[in-house]
Amino acid sequence: MLSSQTCSIASAIEQGTIALSQLSDSAKLDSQLLLAFALVKNVTYLLTWPEKVITATQFIVFQQLLTRRVNGEPIAYILGEKEFWSLPLKVSSATLIPRPDTEILVEQVLTLFTYHDKSNTGGKNSQNIRGLDLGTGTGAIALALASECPCWQLDAVDFNQEAVELAQQNAKNLKLTHVKIYQSDWFSQIDAIEKFDFIISNPPYIDGTDQHLTQGDVRFEPKSALVADEKGFKDIRLIAEQARKYLKNNGYLLFEHGFEQAEKVRQILIDLGYDQVQSFKDYANNDRITQATWLMN
Ligand SMILES: C[S@@+](CC[C@H](N)C(=O)[O-])C[C@H]1O[C@@H](n2cnc3c(N)ncnc32)[C@H](O)[C@@H]1O
Repeated sequence: MLSSQTCSIASAIEQGTIALSQLSDSAKLDSQLLLAFALVKNVTYLLTWPEKVITATQFIVFQQLLTRRVNGEPIAYILGEKEFWSLPLKVSSATLIPRPDTEILVEQVLTLFTYHDKSNTGGKNSQNIRGLDLGTGTGAIALALASECPCWQLDAVDFNQEAVELAQQNAKNLKLTHVKIYQSDWFSQIDAIEKFDFIISNPPYIDGTDQHLTQGDVRFEPKSALVADEKGFKDIRLIAEQARKYLKNNGYLLFEHGFEQAEKVRQILIDLGYDQVQSFKDYANNDRITQATWLMN
């Protein structure tokens, strides 16, 4: 039980750190973030004024937030925000909390189009580049790309209407409203006449029996954002099958997938007739994304 007897900022942080030490690898940071949230300040303020005494009401709010964290709720859901590609994104229990490893997908697309651009403007200013983000969730991937390449024409879809509204809100907050964000069950609402230079997706890819689903932050995230049939491969296979109709000649398809799924994902793409199929590693040196090119006959 925490003690509120004329509690200073430093003491509250310490008590929170102790309360969270069994649960979190980043107990002190979590404690700081929750206290900053309770005080409607930032962490720098806490570090600048460690001796400042907090009010009883602030202490109660901090205690309530700590209780949620002690019960396992992810920090991002408690704070309602997570940074991705240096963009502050609103998050909600409607969708996945964006992961740092997903930034590799963003980097890969930027590399592809920078490399191929001969005008030396890095392709970022090309108005002809069209991209589609399938299963956009918070809008993380599409908004990161939009922030880098304001001229690109980007569509982002999700079948979960709540996620769509969240992504639209994020786009508005970040003034990236040129991204078209709408509800679609993968390609169902996309006109087959539309052709994209790249299609990118971090789809659900976890096998429903995977033990990780019962551990840590993942327990709080919606299964519809995480789990796919066929041992986790169903959505990847469906997207890969249908994407062939929506890619321009030489267009790219890029997936994030599980760290043990690269070989099977490559095989799915090869079997479907894709070319230049290759995987790339995440920050932990695991094969995490796979990319392929579609060549029209
Ligand atoms: C792993 S999350 C990825 C979210 C976000 N792109 C990211 O990287 O943080 C998968 C997303 O796919 C969406 N999704 C699942 N099935 C879908 C379907 N059939 N059509 C469209 N989106 C779907 C989920 O709602 C969820 O937002």
